[in-house]
Amino acid sequence: ALGVAPVVYGQADRPPRGDYSRASDDYTCAQDYDAYTEADHDTYRRLYERQSALLPGLASQHFIDALPSLGAKDRIPRFEEVNERLRRATGWEIVGVPGLIPEVPFFSLLANRKFPVTDWIRKPEEFEYIVEPDVFHDLFGHVPLLFNPVIADYIQAYGQGGLKAAELGACEMLSRLYWYTIEFGLIREQGGLRAYGAGILSSSGELNYSVRSPEPQRLPLSLERAMRTLYKIDTYQHTYFVIDDLQQLFDLTAADFEPLYRQLRDQPTIAADALLPGEVALQTSAS
Ligand code: PHE
Ligand code: FE
Repeated sequence: ALGVAPVVYGQADRPPRGDYSRASDDYTCAQDYDAYTEADHDTYRRLYERQSALLPGLASQHFIDALPSLGAKDRIPRFEEVNERLRRATGWEIVGVPGLIPEVPFFSLLANRKFPVTDWIRKPEEFEYIVEPDVFHDLFGHVPLLFNPVIADYIQAYGQGGLKAAELGACEMLSRLYWYTIEFGLIREQGGLRAYGAGILSSSGELNYSVRSPEPQRLPLSLERAMRTLYKIDTYQHTYFVIDDLQQLFDLTAADFEPLYRQLRDQPTIAADALLPGEVALQTSAS
């Protein structure tokens, strides 16, 4: 799931693909394992194979180390199998959903250490690009780092913060932070820049682009800057935010955001590709 429900969900120009009549009140549903065809499993197998081959030198070592915990590579994993390991590692579990869900139910699940995973998979003709998150994006992109204790705690804190933001009318600002960290975050590691964001890690093209291309700009993560920055949902990102380590992400977001929301509310948003006066973009080779 993307965590940007109001932004994506509210503006969809076509109905979402999932069958929401299968979902209970909290929007979760059982993984419909029997509905997967051999072609579906094959799509997952091919996506996994291609994407895992691209990771060295581009993906965060935290992600590479955790990926085997997902289990099956040659078919769509059963959520229950993943959960046996995930519960033991960090107390998280994954729950099935029919697709993107509204923000408050999304935040409630995260606050309870439940990560919503879309259960259906893209059609073979959508192999390169899909507009809605599917089971490959959600599982491959998001779930490995839920095995990491720092990210596990960060995403739960984000869920709790989301419930508060919903009451303060600040979901848009908070969603931008999610977008620029959990979905499209970069991290500085021993060998240089690496990706830890799920939207990057599940994309064959953006993985190399985000880490190596001279085109996009990369800025050190600042809460204020990220919360004001608009983003594109249908192209590679123009701006990426870089952290020094996972603990920095947790520490940066530990404070109560209420005063920050109040301060940012009066400030203009920043275009996805803008560089403000005085800002210096990082070099791609920076390590
Ligand atoms: N500390 C934030 C608040 O008080 C919540 C939060 C935690 C947001 C972690 C994002 C990530 O609202
Ligand atoms: Fe996502």
